[in-house]
Amino acid sequence: MILLVGGEKGGSGKSCLAQNIAVYLQRKNKDVLLLDADPQGTTTDWAKEREENDELMNLSCVQASGNIRQTLKDIAKRYQVVVVDAGGQDSEALRSAMTVATHMLLPFRPKRRDLKTLVNVSQLVKLAKAVNPDMKVRAIIAQCPTLPSQVQRILDAKDACLSFGIEPLSAITCNRNVYDDADENGSSVLEVGVDPKAKEEIESLVAEFLGV
Ligand SMILES: Nc1ncnc2c1ncn2[C@@H]1O[C@H](COP(=O)(O)OP(=O)(O)O)[C@@H](O)[C@H]1O
Ligand SMILES: [Mg+2]
Repeated sequence: MILLVGGEKGGSGKSCLAQNIAVYLQRKNKDVLLLDADPQGTTTDWAKEREENDELMNLSCVQASGNIRQTLKDIAKRYQVVVVDAGGQDSEALRSAMTVATHMLLPFRPKRRDLKTLVNVSQLVKLAKAVNPDMKVRAIIAQCPTLPSQVQRILDAKDACLSFGIEPLSAITCNRNVYDDADENGSSVLEVGVDPKAKEEIESLVAEFLGV
């Protein structure tokens, strides 16, 4: 399984999701590798901090850039799951990963500037599907407001994804401090046990999209 977490907008929560999903799968006894294809190296830094933290299980992380198609094909033979953090722009790494990924997760905040990127992202998905027709592509509406009065924003964001042919997951993630706090010391919301709701969000997402 090659799960690509990507998109064209910084700050939507791609690195955060890639990291939390990787930890979740590792805790489910999957052999997981994180591949950081973002030159900013957010996930690489996180994995380094994790390595220095004796309380947490190590998670292997490698960096790659440019055309990563062959790299991914090779790595996928050695790991049950490869989680790719593709960074926040249209890049060679993103496009090449889309030709071999089995799953692609596209986080969008329920905000206009995130949803505007659907125009380009949906075009990229269409191109990739021509060579990789079996890739499962889903959007996740991320960092959602928790106020009940804001529910319509989430529904509208899901509609926007659908209107560009990208199916949104029922699962969402909400704006919760624990996502940001857990990031320190290379941890995850599954290990910082202060907010069970965040943990449940990751569980629901993975169960719905990956069936794990
Ligand atoms: N669901 C969330 N709730 C609150 N903060 C979040 C959430 N997801 C991500 N963040 C925070 O938002 C910032 C951007 O997230 P990040 O994963 O680095 O985005 P990206 O990789 O898409 O640029 C980080 O500080 C991260 O901790
Ligand atoms: Mg990132």
